[in-house]
Amino acid sequence: MPTPHRSRPWPKAGPNHHSFREDLPTRDNTTLLEASDEPSPIATRDRTRARHVCDRGPVQPRRSARAITDALQAAGKSLDRLSINDLGLLDEFHLLGRAATTDLADLAAIQAEDHLLDIGAGLGGPARLLAQSYGCHMTTVDLNADYCETAEWLNSATGLSERITVVHADALRLPFPDGSFDVVWSQHAQMNIADKRRLYGEARRVLRDGGRLAVWDIIAGPVQPIHFPVPWADTPDISFLAHSDELRQLLHDSGFEVTAWNDLTSQTIESLRAQMAGPAGPTGLQTYVPNFPTKTANLLLNLKEQRIRMLQAVFTCE
Ligand SMILES: C[S@@+](CC[C@H](N)C(=O)[O-])C[C@H]1O[C@@H](n2cnc3c(N)ncnc32)[C@H](O)[C@@H]1O
Repeated sequence: MPTPHRSRPWPKAGPNHHSFREDLPTRDNTTLLEASDEPSPIATRDRTRARHVCDRGPVQPRRSARAITDALQAAGKSLDRLSINDLGLLDEFHLLGRAATTDLADLAAIQAEDHLLDIGAGLGGPARLLAQSYGCHMTTVDLNADYCETAEWLNSATGLSERITVVHADALRLPFPDGSFDVVWSQHAQMNIADKRRLYGEARRVLRDGGRLAVWDIIAGPVQPIHFPVPWADTPDISFLAHSDELRQLLHDSGFEVTAWNDLTSQTIESLRAQMAGPAGPTGLQTYVPNFPTKTANLLLNLKEQRIRMLQAVFTCE
């Protein structure tokens, strides 16, 4: 295990944080799932907007670090020495929390020698859990500069910096050579990305032959439209949910073969119901996702009415 570092509540980009913001591409209909008190999420429909988002951040600089610091202090945690358990639900921006990450890792047979790329990694909670529990090396990519800085701080604060490299970049234009990774990992990032062909094309390009793609995602159900706001979108114009058949075909066209395809909608409904029935803990996502109770209630309603479904899947590429 790497030696834990002293935490820096107000992080600066460090040696394991690489920014590719000057290279951000032109792209259509890419949006951010954003936890802020700004209108959320923020669409990045053109290069100007994308550069704005990445140069200044869609929220005040280091807003996510401040929110997490406040939540940890309210929970009585020491910022000088953090474990990944101290972070609770703060850094896993997806349904079913940590269980979703470990179940998917087992399904994808993650090994210590694997090098994983997490696309749309957010604050890096899944990367820290994977690096610590499986001993693998992680590279994380996110479009949000604020999240990247906070992820780097938390990696350092939990003593995991040596195993995790944070890269500020766009999943639609990954700054890595072909065949760089054993596994591409993605949880709840594609719902805001319209150009899924390009997203999975890039995933395939950076995977070695025989590599795996592991996803935990929200997809469209048979009943449409969905109720808004939801955690990834306040309005329909920035939500891009694919139907099951469509996604399967797209992944096949991108060079992926299905090795596991599980609909976890029922389990997710049960878990969300239980979560909503209990009190909100001090380290829950409600501490910094605006309008969280309404968005969560809509999430449950959409699941129950079959407007959305939960997909856990693993693919291999030849
Ligand atoms: C709901 S969060 C999920 C974070 C993380 N995967 C997790 O499960 O904790 C979605 C993340 O995807 C990122 N994202 C959205 N579009 C992206 C893109 N084109 N390239 C890189 N990251 C993107 C957002 O900034 C956000 O941090």
